Amino acid sequence: MSLLITGGSGYIGSHTVVELFTVGQDVVVVDNLANSSTKSLERIEQITGKKPIFIEADICDKAAMENLFTSHDISAVIHFAGLKAVGESTQQPLSYYHNNVAGTVTLLEVMAKFNVKKLVFSSSATVYGDKNESPLVETMPTSATNPYGQTKLMVESILFDLAKSDPQWSIISLRYFNPIGAHKSGLIGENPNGIPNNLLPFVSQVAVGRLAALNVFGDDYDTVDGTGVRDYIHVVDLAKAHVQAVNALADLSGCTAINIGTGNGTSVLQIVDKFKEVSGADIPFNIRERRPGDIATVFAEAKLAQQLLGWQAELGLDEMISDTWRWQSNNPNGFE
Ligand code: NAD
Ligand code: UFG
Repeated sequence: MSLLITGGSGYIGSHTVVELFTVGQDVVVVDNLANSSTKSLERIEQITGKKPIFIEADICDKAAMENLFTSHDISAVIHFAGLKAVGESTQQPLSYYHNNVAGTVTLLEVMAKFNVKKLVFSSSATVYGDKNESPLVETMPTSATNPYGQTKLMVESILFDLAKSDPQWSIISLRYFNPIGAHKSGLIGENPNGIPNNLLPFVSQVAVGRLAALNVFGDDYDTVDGTGVRDYIHVVDLAKAHVQAVNALADLSGCTAINIGTGNGTSVLQIVDKFKEVSGADIPFNIRERRPGDIATVFAEAKLAQQLLGWQAELGLDEMISDTWRWQSNNPNGFE
């Protein structure tokens, strides 16, 4: 029996495949390569000695998905596939609703048809919206501030309704906080297209000389140094949370949302200082206006993951930054 990993050649998916291989789990990866390349799968083989079975297909393509379930014995699905750029989602909402919502419904229909009713879904802390105060707890009310966040919220609603309708479903929706870092081999990591939107890939491209200076969006927030605070989580810890979640599906029925964060907040300037210390590189920055839609502080209450998954973050900021730096300096142009 294999696990199906949708979006498995992407950033979080590729790290999760490595951790699944490490515990002896067979996997099938499906990805349309919209935001990744098969290079990551070759690198997985370099790290683990095993190459995942790869099917290039779109999760929205029902016939292709049915074909996949006909030709492979799938026990459960980890569903990463989707689009994730908040800004782009405001420009192209239909592609976000199509890929993230309609694509997930297609996947769920095919899973139901083949009686595969175990799923781990990639949700996001974005579902807490901008009204709750950190630490964010799973029981807090949810809302969305942009189409990307709306797609995560809509999929969570669909998953809760589905699990209520049929007790055979066992679903875990993992609400990731801010994944950063890379595998310690330096062979796989985050490989954004174009100019990065997120802090860590931007900082590391400044450190490596690809970009001139960081724009720090706001220094007048009510935080330790006025800059935005986030709960950064090492992607390898996040990958291990998926391994634990798959194990937990056996004992959990219904749909359960679980935060995956460290419970600690770090400011933009603290990240910059740590990056300078670890890389020895200069990181010039300019203070800019606040970025629309940003909030001051976001961090998780991380207790439920410990209770239900037996998981907690093990890697600290030093590892997150030094592993990001190793990946970026060994691969200044990503997988290209
Ligand atoms: P990623 O872009 O690196 O990986 C997503 C993968 O899905 C890519 O390989 C892409 O080619 C594939 N894909 C997209 N649409 C597809 C489709 N219709 N059919 C088949 N494949 C498709 O992103 P990531 O950072 O690894 O994120 C994985 C998941 O985690 C996403 O659902 C994302 O929304 C969620 N998430 C990410 C973050 C983050 O900061 N990285 C935070 C919270 C949640
Ligand atoms: N920031 C900068 N300069 C940059 C980029 C970011 O100062 O060039 C700041 C932001 O203002 C924020 C912090 O760095 O204070 C983190 O920003 P990111 O863009 O890295 O991350 P966000 O917390 O804004 O967003 C991330 C994911 C979203 C997800 C959200 C959930 O990118 O997909 O976490 O909380 F929805």
